[in-house]
Amino acid sequence: MGYQTLDVEPCSGAMGAVIHGVDLSGDLSNQAFDEIHQAFLDHKAIFFHHQELDPHQQIAFARRFGPLSIYPFIEGLPEAPEAFEILKTESDERNFGGAWHSDMSFATTPPLGTMLYAQEVPEAGGDTMFCNTALAYNALSDGMKDMLDGLVGIYSAALKGSGGRAAAFKSATAMTAKNMDQVEMGAEHPIVRTHPATGRKALYVGKGHTVGLKDMTEAESRPLIDFLADHCVRPEFTCRFRWQAGSLALWDNRCTMHFAVDDYPGQRRRMRRLTIEGDKPF
Ligand code: OGA
Ligand code: MN
Repeated sequence: MGYQTLDVEPCSGAMGAVIHGVDLSGDLSNQAFDEIHQAFLDHKAIFFHHQELDPHQQIAFARRFGPLSIYPFIEGLPEAPEAFEILKTESDERNFGGAWHSDMSFATTPPLGTMLYAQEVPEAGGDTMFCNTALAYNALSDGMKDMLDGLVGIYSAALKGSGGRAAAFKSATAMTAKNMDQVEMGAEHPIVRTHPATGRKALYVGKGHTVGLKDMTEAESRPLIDFLADHCVRPEFTCRFRWQAGSLALWDNRCTMHFAVDDYPGQRRRMRRLTIEGDKPF
């Protein structure tokens, strides 16, 4: 893909690209934004280094992609309720995002994208891994693709596998949880979804949030969900982003999953997150 104004450096053969030489703090021209948007669609996650963004500047950039949504389970910033901090302190044990997932797949209209801005990072570690679920879908056999056609997944916020969402937040954490009475939030979506902008199909299955397949037993669903989720994260479908303070990432939840690597005990990591509204998966 050629870009006129952007310097785009792919992260791996599978997905992800670092965009160099762009300052996101001020007004971006429409042409610059259009190319960034194209790079987002082409690479599925885009990354920038050396940014200095206050919450309002980050929000202004995120809004170019669409309206923002409010995350239900964590208190937003007082000055910007759309934004919240993902903070892991020196003594926290809870690692937010420490399982492969697509954000809020349990919502009726899950977010199109998520934007993280790194404020404090460990000396080493705390990378985020990503996988390209469109590439994973393409790699399936025709027989498997036919079998998945029309299957509907049941998605839940409860995170049963990890002792439950409420339990996860009860363990030492610096983040302020809210709405723990709504953890039963859930939705049904096709497990193969079509990207509204590119028309490409992608798997939409995670071990934590996809709790079953419609009209199938648990015994039938579980092995298929587990197979598909494991298949998505084969190394050749992934990339890994190493953060610096001032890095910004934007990923496409419609065709990727991500995983926060917890390998920096005793160190701090603080990120500012925004979520961009999406459509109902089809
Ligand atoms: C998230 C998330 C991963 C990370 O913000 O949704 O999963 O590396 N974050 O902080
Ligand atoms: Mn996440």
